Amino acid sequence: MLQQEAFDTETLVPGYREPVLPTGEPDAATVAASETRTRQWSGRARERIKYGSDLHKQMMCEMFAETFNPYRPSVLKWPTLDEAALHRITSLPIWDIAVQTEGKARLRMAAYARTVADPEIRNALAQNAWEENRHKEVLSKMVQHYGIPLVPEPAYEYPKDPEWAYLVTGYSECIDSFFAFGLFKVAHDSGLFPPELIDTFEPVMQEECRHILLFANWVAWHRAQLGLFRRIAFEFKVFRVWCFLGLERMELAKGLDANGNEHAQDNNFTVTGAQSVTEQELSVAALMTCCLRENDRRFSGYDERLLRPTTMPFLVRCALPVLKFFERRKQRRTG
Ligand SMILES: [Fe+2]
Ligand SMILES: [Fe+2]
Repeated sequence: MLQQEAFDTETLVPGYREPVLPTGEPDAATVAASETRTRQWSGRARERIKYGSDLHKQMMCEMFAETFNPYRPSVLKWPTLDEAALHRITSLPIWDIAVQTEGKARLRMAAYARTVADPEIRNALAQNAWEENRHKEVLSKMVQHYGIPLVPEPAYEYPKDPEWAYLVTGYSECIDSFFAFGLFKVAHDSGLFPPELIDTFEPVMQEECRHILLFANWVAWHRAQLGLFRRIAFEFKVFRVWCFLGLERMELAKGLDANGNEHAQDNNFTVTGAQSVTEQELSVAALMTCCLRENDRRFSGYDERLLRPTTMPFLVRCALPVLKFFERRKQRRTG
């Protein structure tokens, strides 16, 4: 059963005020307007920006505030599913990890936001934590509605090093969202899921895009604030975060957790589990091409002067020719 513990960003982050959401059910025009606002944003200043400058900071914080989508998890519609669709949804091996990821992310972001001296950045990061909590609420509503069984959630521990925890969360989101964008598109196109259900999750997907856009710009801004020695220490930390995430994903790929317990549900879902969301034969190269395309599409509406996360798209672009080569070779051998 899902834990319904209270999570209060306002208490965790001094000075933060959570948004007041409109009450009642929004009409179609209001939903469409929020959808557009959340996907498209340009800064008012026309000049080029220097990364790390006050203008850069202002721009990223304004982007984050002005693209906020005020949906309310409690009014989301959960369509009635036929037996096959219900089975498909409940057996997707992602719900435990999704719920727990949001649970960890909200606390880690709030814990780091609390340590940030700059009020605008603190507020943006706190807002991000609040939105992660809203994602968890969306998932909890869905899990309840469809009776999806979950393992008990672990206790979420307040991080000892909030900056480390924030970096781990931010870079994880950059990796996971890149693949999630592609999988979501595959699920959308497969016709195996009711369009209403896809629509319900669409704002959550776009919100992750906003989150990693904020994160990429925060990293650049933060770097520029550091003197030489703190900068070196920070880069070393970032390097360790990437090593940690790489190892974590390899462990997950093996289906084992840190304690050596076998997990039926894991992050490795991206590649091995793509077949659960479509009936089409899908090669890894085709899936990666789709992830790249969706990644570009989701970021395309935001001011081009803001930085985008680049590591995953870069790695996948490098890997694609190799993947295609092996797939062609396999086809020749089997065909
Ligand atoms: Fe999230
Ligand atoms: Fe997020």
